[in-house]
Amino acid sequence: MTQKIQNLTGMNDILPTEAVLWQKLEAVSRGILNCYGYGEIRTPLLEDTALFSRGIGTDTQVVQKEMYTFDDRSGESITLRPEGTASVVRAYVQHALKAQEEICKLYYLGPMFRHERPQKGRLRQFHQIGVEIFGTDSPHADAEIVTVTDRIAKGVGLSGYTIYVNSLGTREERRAYLEILKTYFIQNQMGLCAECQKRLETNPLRILDCKNEACRKSSDQAPKITDHLGEESQKHFATFQQDLKNHDIEFSVNPRIVRGLDYYERTTFEFVSDKLGSQSAFAGGGRYNQLVEELGGDATSAVGLAMGCERLILLMQEALSQNPNPTLSGVYFVSFDEPSQVKARELLQKVRDAGVRAEAAYESKSLKSQMRRANKLGYRYAALLGGDEMARQEVTLKDLSSSEQKAISFESLTTHLKSGEKS
Ligand code: HAM
Repeated sequence: MTQKIQNLTGMNDILPTEAVLWQKLEAVSRGILNCYGYGEIRTPLLEDTALFSRGIGTDTQVVQKEMYTFDDRSGESITLRPEGTASVVRAYVQHALKAQEEICKLYYLGPMFRHERPQKGRLRQFHQIGVEIFGTDSPHADAEIVTVTDRIAKGVGLSGYTIYVNSLGTREERRAYLEILKTYFIQNQMGLCAECQKRLETNPLRILDCKNEACRKSSDQAPKITDHLGEESQKHFATFQQDLKNHDIEFSVNPRIVRGLDYYERTTFEFVSDKLGSQSAFAGGGRYNQLVEELGGDATSAVGLAMGCERLILLMQEALSQNPNPTLSGVYFVSFDEPSQVKARELLQKVRDAGVRAEAAYESKSLKSQMRRANKLGYRYAALLGGDEMARQEVTLKDLSSSEQKAISFESLTTHLKSGEKS
């Protein structure tokens, strides 16, 4: 027997039952983002490797260990995008979007690739819904990014998550703070893990978000960046927080939110749920005022965030398991004999053309088996059709949740179903 070929580790298929949740997540997100004035951008999956090494930072874990980088047939080094922000910035600069509109609000949705060790909520091909605002340093824009993410999470039925916020200050403020932090860790480095020993030289900030117990203990008492912000950054952070309060969004200031990508300054944020295990962040982002210039554009302030779709789907599944009432919709035609089968196929086409979800068996099946299928597929109604119904030119419409039955004429079936779909 020929050996079966399997999917690559960490690159999953999404089958129809789960795809329903993806469609809901995408539809809710698009609807909300549209209300907030974001336009969609679609960038290629493959980019010049230099875009990510320069954009994300050569010392980051993503660039050092996780990128799918290879030479294409002409010998150019290309990379499967590990995130969306660098690509969106490249497109923003390349198409001179700044000249078209002073404030440019974009969103994107699609697969990203990181060669990580797969586990619950962590894949090698995963999907993000990302939002970016270009052209303003206003803290109201930072608050809008958090608000829109909160509304999307609530819109797909999530609750009980925590929003952490922090400010990393300007680059100058951060540089000064890093010296203070480094001095602290040199004096208190007992038990730092091997990785954090290295970070002490490369990026001491990342010690603050190390999950290792000893590192956490050691960083508990570390000086906080929020105590070392300049006046402007303090004001920026305070206005951002006030805005969230005005929108009734609960959050908590957490100095450990330093982010794993190098481009951030000032505000950072993460959405975290304790129902996800160790990969608890289902969205993260912040402000990045230098990246546009670093990638060849004019100096342009920007802020954004990306949601991890697989983690959102896990949370949606968890929320559904707490409330297992499925939403029933559409109609399944159940026919008793050959002539009613012919009529059922005609009516089936009519209601589908009118936009109602509908199906019928392709072959002659017993009544029991047809009813079983109608229930299994989550139809709201069964339209029963036999000799009596044919004679009266009507179907017996059975509501599958209440078992109530009504006679509905062939003529008015579509209208009846359409009004029922709305109720
Ligand atoms: P990030 O924190 O690297 O930020 O990723 C954002 C979200 O993507 C994470 O919170 C997580 O939910 C999800 N994610 C990341 N890696 C994986 C993985 N291997 N498997 C499953 N989900 C994953 C960014 O990517 C930034 N570009 C966000 C941003 C936009 N900052 C400013 N604008």
